[in-house]
Amino acid sequence: MNYLVEEKFELGPLVTFVPNKKYPVYNWFHFKEGFSRNFVMMMFDQFKLKEGSWVLDPFCGSGTTLLASKERGINSVGVDVMPLAVFVSQVKTLDYDVDCLKSVARDIFSRKFVPLSLKGLSPLVKQAFTKFALEDILFFKQVISEIRDPVVKNFFTLALITASNKVSMAYKDGSVIKIRKRNHIPPLRPIFKRIVKKMLNDLKTFQTKKSTIKVYLGDARHLNFLEDSTFDAIITSPPYLNIIDYIKVYAIENELFFGQTKYDGLRSYIGLDVEKDYSEFDYLDIPPIGKAYFRDMKDVLSEMHRVLSPNGDAVIVVGEGVFPNKIVPVPFILSDIAKSIGFKVKKIVHANKRIVTDQDRKKIGIARESIVFLKK
Ligand SMILES: C[S@@+](CC[C@H](N)C(=O)[O-])C[C@H]1O[C@@H](n2cnc3c(N)ncnc32)[C@H](O)[C@@H]1O
Repeated sequence: MNYLVEEKFELGPLVTFVPNKKYPVYNWFHFKEGFSRNFVMMMFDQFKLKEGSWVLDPFCGSGTTLLASKERGINSVGVDVMPLAVFVSQVKTLDYDVDCLKSVARDIFSRKFVPLSLKGLSPLVKQAFTKFALEDILFFKQVISEIRDPVVKNFFTLALITASNKVSMAYKDGSVIKIRKRNHIPPLRPIFKRIVKKMLNDLKTFQTKKSTIKVYLGDARHLNFLEDSTFDAIITSPPYLNIIDYIKVYAIENELFFGQTKYDGLRSYIGLDVEKDYSEFDYLDIPPIGKAYFRDMKDVLSEMHRVLSPNGDAVIVVGEGVFPNKIVPVPFILSDIAKSIGFKVKKIVHANKRIVTDQDRKKIGIARESIVFLKK
């Protein structure tokens, strides 16, 4: 299929999370796979969204689309299958009573440390932290669990998750968690305190407008809780083909704070089920997992089409997949599927590219990350 294709590599950084690091609230949790506030703002302008418009992100991750909507007074709905993502999105987009938070913070940091048992924690979690750091994390988790107001409790839990990551020896390397021994690991308490202080300061300076924001734990393939033709725009980025297993990459956070300890077979929920029929995509010369990915993305695109209002815009940030020996042109295949569903494909903009090599460092090809513009 022929599409209008543009190369705009100056947009590259905008489709990554990196620029968010310097933005208050956006940076309350480092979500490596996210896109940036300014990308979303650019889409709002391009689609001429105004206060009161409705926008959907069916793979909302750390809530970038929702938070940007809040800044603009645009109403938004976010959906994600991972409890951690839903939690982060909610905490970043709620309204708070800062004085109440300050008084709870004073109480938390006045508590005397009591060591708790580390029994039952997985080997991964035990490798990721020193015994002292883990004891501190569990102690503060216990203190926070006593807070009655769930909004306040969640605010401090997010601060603790971020503080825990700062004293962790684990780091996320693409799709896997690696452990790196550190000579000097600062104690958790002052870091946690500093993060709480920063979050409280952010709340004082961050300017938002009145809007409705809803975040659902759900599956982008089945948005039956959303009505037909309700959204003016969709701004989203699905899991990339065969790369990130979100549940696994965030396994430490998921175990320590969400009691989620089973990760086998939870691969990102898109392209997971290779038992279910994917023969519609047999024309693609790719392994079953790739065909299952497109079968699932077809369901997602159908749902996106259904909930979008007539003439509504949808934008999808997605990368080309790298199977062992070949590059799969995901943005083009998704465009073909979108077209078959009834979308108009406005254009495909390549924003990033990288050289991909195999295990022997032989070049496989160039994989691009692109922005697909669709219209209902
Ligand atoms: C590329 S990330 C989105 C990042 C987001 N744009 C941000 O700025 O933080 C993809 C997200 O899709 C979620 N996900 C995977 N499968 C899903 C499904 N079937 N339904 C909804 N969300 C899903 C993952 O948990 C992950 O948070």
